[in-house]
Amino acid sequence: MSLPSQPDAKGYLNVRIEPMTLEDIPEVMVIERSSFSRPWPERAYRYELTQNPNAHFVVARLDGHASVAKQTSALGRLRIRRARTDNAPDAVVGFAGLWMQVDEAHIATIAVHPDFRGRGVGDKLLRAMLLTAQQHCARIVTLEVRVSNLVAQRLYQKYQFEVVGLRKAYYQDNREDALIMTITHFDTPEYRAWLAAVNAASH
Ligand SMILES: CC(C)(COP(=O)(O)OP(=O)(O)OC[C@H]1O[C@@H](n2cnc3c(N)ncnc32)[C@H](O)[C@@H]1OP(=O)(O)O)[C@@H](O)C(=O)NCCC(=O)NCCS
Repeated sequence: MSLPSQPDAKGYLNVRIEPMTLEDIPEVMVIERSSFSRPWPERAYRYELTQNPNAHFVVARLDGHASVAKQTSALGRLRIRRARTDNAPDAVVGFAGLWMQVDEAHIATIAVHPDFRGRGVGDKLLRAMLLTAQQHCARIVTLEVRVSNLVAQRLYQKYQFEVVGLRKAYYQDNREDALIMTITHFDTPEYRAWLAAVNAASH
């Protein structure tokens, strides 16, 4: 019998999506710094969690401490251990954030720890964000993504985001352009039914 914390037959990790708390920030920062060339500072997460009523930030947690040893490399274990405190809950392996702006949902951020990518965590985080947007009656969902970030674009396309525009030199580190991607038909019965079916069939 397989333990709930082990990857399933398809190699997906068993993670649960939970609201981000202040206690999660050290682990979030480890992932943030290893995922983005211009990482958000810690205070940005504090602000989102304590001051911004329109922010919805979540983390993906491995199901059980044992899974850290079973599911990742020694380097990943080390990085995670360094970010954790003695009485920390189960390890955070990814996070995502959404801002609700009237009837528009904006995916503010999404990242998965490098040692845990390609195993369904980003997919589950994005789905959680889309379901949150739905609960808040979003009409459309939008985001920016680097032109060069083909992996993220592929994830967004899977959920029917389409390119609707370009922000020239949007990223300050290398003046890279951003694609604006949107689910224009988010608020339709067809999309709602599709997302519900995908969610029901997913890990
Ligand atoms: C983008 C990111 C969040 C994806 O997370 P992940 O856990 O690796 O993604 P998943 O394993 O859930 O894969 C979901 C989908 O993403 C796409 N994808 C993931 N890895 C991919 C790869 N190596 N090549 C191409 N597409 C890939 C696929 O569409 C995949 O769906 P599929 O498995 O049905 O083909 C992760 O790569 C990451 O943290 N990147 C750094 C931060 C970042 O770029 N964030 C986005 C900013 S806009």
